[in-house]
Amino acid sequence: MAKRTTISIIKCDVGSLAGHHVVPKPLLDIADRNLRRAKEEELINSYYVFNVGDDLQLLMVHERGESNPEIHELAWNTFQDAAQKALKLKLYGAGQDLLKNAFSGNIRGLGPGVAEMEIEERKSEPIVVFAADKTSAGSFNLPLFRIFADPMNTAGLVIDPNMAGGFKFEVVDVQEGKKVVLKCPDEMYELLALIGTVERYIVSRVWRARDDLICASGSVTKLSLIAGKYVGKDDPVMIVRAQHGLPAVGEILAPFMHTYLVAGWMRGSHWGPIMPVGLKHARCTVFDGPPRLVALGFQVSDGAIASDDDGNPMIADFFDDPAFEPARREAMTLAAMLRRMGEFEPARLSVESMEYTTLPQVIEKLKERFTPI
Ligand code: F6R
Ligand code: MG
Ligand code: MG
Repeated sequence: MAKRTTISIIKCDVGSLAGHHVVPKPLLDIADRNLRRAKEEELINSYYVFNVGDDLQLLMVHERGESNPEIHELAWNTFQDAAQKALKLKLYGAGQDLLKNAFSGNIRGLGPGVAEMEIEERKSEPIVVFAADKTSAGSFNLPLFRIFADPMNTAGLVIDPNMAGGFKFEVVDVQEGKKVVLKCPDEMYELLALIGTVERYIVSRVWRARDDLICASGSVTKLSLIAGKYVGKDDPVMIVRAQHGLPAVGEILAPFMHTYLVAGWMRGSHWGPIMPVGLKHARCTVFDGPPRLVALGFQVSDGAIASDDDGNPMIADFFDDPAFEPARREAMTLAAMLRRMGEFEPARLSVESMEYTTLPQVIEKLKERFTPI
């Protein structure tokens, strides 16, 4: 059997500096130490630790497949160690996303977000990893549609015969706990009918239709459904494979020339404009936002992230680029406009989406005071 490589990105809010702002260095150092040891012990082949706002991100490349208990346990233990440190430092929200006490073989459903993709390496394998803060998994529905189904975004859909058969989308209904696969362009309208409802229908995987080659894999977590109450937004991660019969890196990044509105921002309760930023600006401020998005590029090579001569993984920080300045400006213009509306819809999420916030407590308190009209 051909050699298979797995890319795992597992993230968790274990506590942050100055409110829900940023993961400080001592926590990143703990993650780096643990993953370095795992690499020395040959559990993983390479890794890159980073943060997007208050989320600690563990990017790992290995040969153990998806949902591997040892890889998930490594992530779980690392988050526990970092949360302990956060507790000692009295950081804010220490252990926030660690919703269960015990690890039982798979980190899914315990709080952290997971995206994984097992691939058979092509001759050259460019990968883009997206990670966002102060928003939720459905935020990737729009760009995924543009990248893999919109010929006005992805020239390859028109020009490259290798893409002519289109792409298949797996959509998860997070309310019903069901999933469906829809093929584009044939079922494009049905796909859009679902994934426009970003809080309920979430694109979890994309394959090239003609040969079922895996092209994208995203996290689909609903922390509120695990915890039964609001504990923060799900801050999604996603892995996308690029080039040579798949969308080019430039086509994968093109949807982010403009901002668009996503659910999240302050108290996970508002529509906010997503802001594509480089790692150095992946830190939320205004109204706990605007929601930030990072895109990192790398090459997968022989089961690892391609490294430089000193053994350091080579990482491209795509949004650290003036080309995305107009999108960032556009985001701030929209942010200012939305905040002028305060707590009025549609700046605030609809009442259904507020089910797991503290809003129901306010309504409950007033219940007895309502009289018939
Ligand atoms: C959003 C988020 C923040 C908090 C807000 C209130 O995902 O994490 O916007 O909801 O800062 O936080 P608490 O209730 O911890 O004071
Ligand atoms: Mg937090
Ligand atoms: Mg976060």
